[in-house]
Amino acid sequence: MKGIILAGGLGTRLHPLTKITNKHLLPIYDKPMVYYPIQTLVNAGITDIMIVTGGNYAGDFLRLLGNGKEFGLTHIHYAYQEGEGGIADALSLAEWFAEGEKICVVLGDNIIENNIVKAVRDFEKQDKGAKILLKEVPDPERFGVAEISDGKLISIVEKPRVPKSNLAVIGIYLYDGRVFDFIKTIKPSDRGELEITDVNNAYLENGTMTWGMLHGWWTDAGTFESLLRASILVSQTGANNINSVERRA
Ligand code: G1P
Repeated sequence: MKGIILAGGLGTRLHPLTKITNKHLLPIYDKPMVYYPIQTLVNAGITDIMIVTGGNYAGDFLRLLGNGKEFGLTHIHYAYQEGEGGIADALSLAEWFAEGEKICVVLGDNIIENNIVKAVRDFEKQDKGAKILLKEVPDPERFGVAEISDGKLISIVEKPRVPKSNLAVIGIYLYDGRVFDFIKTIKPSDRGELEITDVNNAYLENGTMTWGMLHGWWTDAGTFESLLRASILVSQTGANNINSVERRA
C-alpha cells in the first residue's frame, strides 16, 4: 500500500503564523507537524510515500525532510498543488503515483496517540472499496460526522450544524484505486473546494465503505486551540506509539 500526506492549503485559520510558513511545518511540541503523519504511515509499514503540498513554502519541505532518512526512508515523492482546491483536489495529484494500488491518505495536520496498524491490515484484506476511522469528539460540528445505526454506516455529513452523532471522521482514509474516478465525479462545495466527505459518500452509496474506531487520542491542529492541544497531548503521552493498541486490546 502507498501513503499520501496532504500538506497543502493556506492555513488561513492560523494567521499570522501561516503568513510566513506552511501550517504543516509549525511545531507540535518538539517536532514539525508533518513529522507525525509521516511516522503514522511508517509505523503502519507504509514506506512508499508522497507529500502533496502547495503555497509559497513548498520548498521548505524538501529542505526539512529530504529523502526521509530520519524515518528510515530512502525516498519521498513530492507533488505541488496550485491554488486552494480542497483535500480531494490535492489527492487527485497523486493519481499517477498510486498506479491503481490501494492507498492510505493522511491529512498533514492529523496526529494520533497510537497507530493504524490494524486498520491497514484489515483494509489490505478488504476486497475493494474504502475504509474510514471514527473517533468520539466533544465538538463534532468541526468535522465530517458519521451516523451509525446497528453497526451500519448510514451517512457522513461535513461540518453539520446539528450533528447526528459525536463520531468525527478522522483525516486518515484508506482507498482502493477507484478513488480517483470518484473524485472526478464530485462538484465543489459552498466553500469552493472538492470535499473528501463527498468522495467518502460516493463509496458509501456504492456500498463499499467500511469503518473502524480509532484507539487512543486523535487531534487535528488547524486552529489555535487544536494546535495548542496537539502540543500538550504529544508532550504528555507521546504520539505514534506503535505497541499501544496491542497492549490495550
Ligand atoms: C477535514 C475534512 C473533515 C475531517 C477533518 C479531519 O476538515 O473535511 O471531514 O473530519 O479534516 O481533520 P478541515 O479541518 O480540513 O476543514
